[in-house]
Amino acid sequence: MDLKKFVSSIDYDVKLAKYDILGSIAHVKMLAKCSIISKNESIKIINGLTSILKDFEMKKIKFYDEDIHTAIENELKKRIGEVAGKMHTARSRNDQVVLDEKLYLKNEILIITGKIDGLIASIKNVAGKNSSVIMPGFTHLQNAQPVLFSHWFLAYAWMLKRDKERLLDCYNRTDVFPLGAAAFAGTEFHIDRNFAAKLLGFSKISENSVDTVSDRDFIIEFLSDCAIISMHISRIAEELIIWSSQQFGFVKISDEFTTGSSIMPQKKNPDFAELLKGKTGKIYGNLMSVLAMMKGLPLSYNRDMQEDKEPLFSSVETLKNMLEVSAKMTSSIKIDSKKMFSACENGFILATDIADFLVSKGLPFRTAHGIVKEVVNYCIKNEKLFNDLSIDEWKKFSEKFDNSIYTILNYKKAIEKRKSYGGTSLQSVKAQLKNL
Ligand code: ARG
Repeated sequence: MDLKKFVSSIDYDVKLAKYDILGSIAHVKMLAKCSIISKNESIKIINGLTSILKDFEMKKIKFYDEDIHTAIENELKKRIGEVAGKMHTARSRNDQVVLDEKLYLKNEILIITGKIDGLIASIKNVAGKNSSVIMPGFTHLQNAQPVLFSHWFLAYAWMLKRDKERLLDCYNRTDVFPLGAAAFAGTEFHIDRNFAAKLLGFSKISENSVDTVSDRDFIIEFLSDCAIISMHISRIAEELIIWSSQQFGFVKISDEFTTGSSIMPQKKNPDFAELLKGKTGKIYGNLMSVLAMMKGLPLSYNRDMQEDKEPLFSSVETLKNMLEVSAKMTSSIKIDSKKMFSACENGFILATDIADFLVSKGLPFRTAHGIVKEVVNYCIKNEKLFNDLSIDEWKKFSEKFDNSIYTILNYKKAIEKRKSYGGTSLQSVKAQLKNL
């Protein structure tokens, strides 16, 4: 093992190069403003940093040192000489690395929330286009009550809306400027932290320098948010896998998102949806990895924390891809409204409506529940559906049944009755679509 390689983070923290340079430029401007370095020196350093950024973006430089902070300073020294060393006045890599990570994360959070909006839009679109399609709703994956497909599917949009709010909350806590904490104790130089914070677009500055260099909560919080988002995506994915199976046939996932089998010519496997679930495992792992790394860590900076970057970058990249794929795949699905409707015939899904009917005739709900249970058992034994029962058969179970029971036995009506706020009636779903 090459010992230098063991302590090095350059292979991955090179991702922070741009933020490291922008952070240094703001720091140097602040040092000049506070007369800690001369105007002339600051111009030399800023020009040097700008040229490094340009070359880096044009892929003209490769960095080799222990980490990106050292690499950029060494490159600057090559370009402008000893004055490069003034850049690190009143600063340590301990506060610098937190700054780089925060600048990176703030930017990525906004990109991710944009992609969440994309997935919400796909869901709303599919729901809106199929707003009156009827299907059986499930509990325990058993047919339970009729529901509008649009209502069912919009549930995911609400989850994602909360996910976005969580991320924006995390953004607020990330938006705290760390520079000026230096190694951990602050600095003797008369710096202006607010000035540098403003230049870099931070709305607050940190209050305790020890906490500032020791804190990785913002990363753990972000990784937790990613875990929740990926969990939600995995649920959409699994639903589509179940629904696209031969047994259900509720939806068709576009060929673009399925692959064939190397042995069974008839197969169309929902690989993309399966991978969305598989990748969720990696995102959970990234959270666990940083949580475990931080457990029991004494104050203040410890090199252990260098290991926060790979899980962070991994979750950012994986989640962005997952959001994009799930939005495109969701837009591609075709709903089979006939299959969905005919699936309502299984499982006596109007049983609750019949119990509610008896309640409207004055029976306590518990009693009504017991009576309908007996009706269901009778139907199963005699291989009948509710609609097959004669009025005499109904009356055997309760005198309260009359001919109006047959008007209850209608899926569309059952849905339309559920007008409670947030319920499945078309009217409520339309309000939902608007509120989203
Ligand atoms: N590469 C380091 C990290 O990612 C930067 C900070 C190094 N600080 C130190 N005292 N060695 O954490």
